[in-house]
Amino acid sequence: MTTLFLTDAEATRSLGVRLGNCLPAGSVILLEGDLGAGKTTLVQGIGEGLGIEDAIVSPTFTLINEYPEGRIPLYHLDLYRLEPSEVEVLNLESYWEGAEFPLGIVAIEWAERLPYKPQSYLYLRLSYSPESGRQAELVSVGNFDWGALAQDLGQAKDLPLQPETMRDLEA
Ligand SMILES: Nc1ncnc2c1ncn2[C@@H]1O[C@H](COP(=O)(O)OP(=O)(O)O)[C@@H](O)[C@H]1O
Ligand SMILES: [Mg+2]
Repeated sequence: MTTLFLTDAEATRSLGVRLGNCLPAGSVILLEGDLGAGKTTLVQGIGEGLGIEDAIVSPTFTLINEYPEGRIPLYHLDLYRLEPSEVEVLNLESYWEGAEFPLGIVAIEWAERLPYKPQSYLYLRLSYSPESGRQAELVSVGNFDWGALAQDLGQAKDLPLQPETMRDLEA
């Protein structure tokens, strides 16, 4: 797990930009964190990193927003309004299997409502505590390719790592 300090909204966005720059097609990011934690802000950064010029708006009501015009497509999902049983019938795996839609980055807000998960993904939790402020916890699960991103984050001066938590978890 890697933990980063997110000192302001610009830091949250900057983390997203790095994800948008680095991640290959087929990457899934499962986002968790309370209302207002910065999930949509992060996805806006991903869009910027991919070179998407359309405004990225919260899909709380539309469920899925698709942005095909960047380096690779971005699929932005928000499951806030759904129960896991309602999510089940949506066949969301078609976004990460690459058969029905071209592979891109799939970013899912309120991913805890997913009744099933891809085999490999980046788990990204945004949290806040009065002692340490806003933080992002990142965990790679399965074969998610963590290498380039970990290196990039290690050098990011605007995204300080929490030193004691920089360790790799065998997921
Ligand atoms: N690291 C941060 N520090 C302070 N404010 C932030 C940070 N990240 C995001 N914000 C702000 O928090 C508010 C809610 O963010 P948003 O991305 O809509 O949250 P969510 O999608 O998780 O509900 C926005 O005004 C955003 O600018
Ligand atoms: Mg949101």
